[in-house]
Amino acid sequence: MQVYGVIGDPVEHSLSPPMHRAAFKSLGIDADYSRFRVRKGNVKNAIKGSKSLGIDGLNITVPHKETVANLSEIEKVASAKEIGAINTLDLHSMKGYNTDVIGARKALEKSGTKIKNKKVVIVGAGGAARAVAYGLADKALSLDIINRTAEKAIKLAEEIGDKAKGHSLEYNEELIVKADIVVNATSVGMKEEKSPFPVDYLHSNLTVFDLVYRPIETHLLREAKKRGAKTVDGVSMLVLQGAESLDIWTGEKPPIEVMEKKIRNIL
Ligand code: ATR
Repeated sequence: MQVYGVIGDPVEHSLSPPMHRAAFKSLGIDADYSRFRVRKGNVKNAIKGSKSLGIDGLNITVPHKETVANLSEIEKVASAKEIGAINTLDLHSMKGYNTDVIGARKALEKSGTKIKNKKVVIVGAGGAARAVAYGLADKALSLDIINRTAEKAIKLAEEIGDKAKGHSLEYNEELIVKADIVVNATSVGMKEEKSPFPVDYLHSNLTVFDLVYRPIETHLLREAKKRGAKTVDGVSMLVLQGAESLDIWTGEKPPIEVMEKKIRNIL
């Protein structure tokens, strides 16, 4: 039997175990997937131990993605190298990947939203925002990153390059009005909070993508729908980053509908 898991802290609410178990079952793969709570100082030992135990692969979640990217034993592949954060580890090859970057891009594309030459506004400048920024930077015309702590947005924009600009959370009406795609990559919206920015300027030419998936329909997405915008919810990203991990581990075509149905049923 193959064994996979997710390490993080906290990790008890992770939806990866039911999602991946459903996928393995659907593919007829004899495999299990568990959650492991790993404290900050124990990450390196946890990975070494997992390899010794014969565990096949791991997902890495908050707050360990950067720590794992800094371990010399692990070869960073593709976007993991650029972004300096790993969320997927193949313990056979000891290669680390970042499937959040691909998941963000695919979630938008799956909704029929074109990214090429589009004006993108990203709200937030933490780990999730970085993955989105890296995922969209190649194709987008421009990336405006707005964040409560403006310095973090400016720093992320500098990292991305000429296309990107960082801003504070205030006075961003014009950016929203001119945008084609707006992404909420903050944690605001969980527990029925309002949107992290005023929703008055959302419009029908927009795609609004909210990474928050609990609740599935956030205040922001509800308001966006009311104004005729196309909406993409956080489940889509969760599933598509997971599907990429599954592909890396097994080489099988991920059963995306099965994985998505499982998550939507739980939520
Ligand atoms: P993640 O890895 O999920 O991105 P994170 O790195 O802690 O988590 O980033 C959280 C993001 O949500 C940040 O952009 C944060 O803004 P700050 O950089 O100013 O902290 C944003 N955020 C969290 N709570 C917020 C709030 N109440 N209003 C606005 N932005 C908020």
